[in-house]
Amino acid sequence: MSRIVYVNGRYVPYARAAVHVEDRGFQFADGIYEVCEVRGGHLVDEARHMARLTRSLGELQIAQPMRTAALVHVMRQVIRRNHVRNGLVYLQVTRGTAPREFYFPDASVTPTVVCLARSISPARVDTNAASGIAVKSMPDIRWQRCDIKTVMLLPACLAKEAARKDGAREAWFIDNDGLVTEGASSNAWIVDQSGAVITRPLGADNLPGVTRATLLDAIKEEGMQLIERPFALTEAYAAREAFITSATQTVMPVVRIDGRSVGDGKPGAIVQRLRLKFHQFAAISSG
Ligand code: PDD
Repeated sequence: MSRIVYVNGRYVPYARAAVHVEDRGFQFADGIYEVCEVRGGHLVDEARHMARLTRSLGELQIAQPMRTAALVHVMRQVIRRNHVRNGLVYLQVTRGTAPREFYFPDASVTPTVVCLARSISPARVDTNAASGIAVKSMPDIRWQRCDIKTVMLLPACLAKEAARKDGAREAWFIDNDGLVTEGASSNAWIVDQSGAVITRPLGADNLPGVTRATLLDAIKEEGMQLIERPFALTEAYAAREAFITSATQTVMPVVRIDGRSVGDGKPGAIVQRLRLKFHQFAAISSG
């Protein structure tokens, strides 16, 4: 079965899906993206993802390529045409193609839109969640607008590769004060010895995760103790539990940080409960 990719108004076979060499996404990382979970063939938390996409475009003064409903239609088509039941859909918008100049191109240049979908076995993610993952801390060398979901992901690639070489699946970025900003492609959380769930407040140094927002709803609804404050790497070493959130991992237990066991080195009771709860709170779109 051949994969189908949406590129600028066309649904094309994967092997022929291409953008121009002077696309500003390729030349300058001048673009933004979204990754949404697909569950049972439906988009999860579509409204929050689309709101963040609109915000990212606005912050970078990239024109909205089409109405949000039309973008959602494209995403659904790509999911359907690729027969994805469970997995992810990736949507990228760049400022478009123009001769390489740092200044923004003329307003007549239209944004590039690309959309791909991929199946991911829920059983595989569940297997990872059952054993938990290891993370490695790395200095946060990213720019000062990490709240925008840009395709400028080189620091994340470097950090994740370094983590992989150390047998860890995720990297946690650490700021100059020794505080955890977030994961390379996830938000970071700990549970302290009293059972309070702790995550860094939103700011320019982390991404407003959609999974994070939905999980906060779940935690509040459950009446669990929640503290939004920065936490130090040393605090994470001594935490009872730790976990990450992202659209592809949902709520994923962290059992080792820099080679040290978190708690008893197994996924904790609170993170397991939150992982189960997450999908009761995530909005599954009906389209
Ligand atoms: N990454 N922080 C960063 C730096 C991220 O790249 C991501 C998501 C998150 C979590 O956001 P959300 O819950 O909306 O997925 C936090 C996606 C999954 C990726 O780049 O593949």
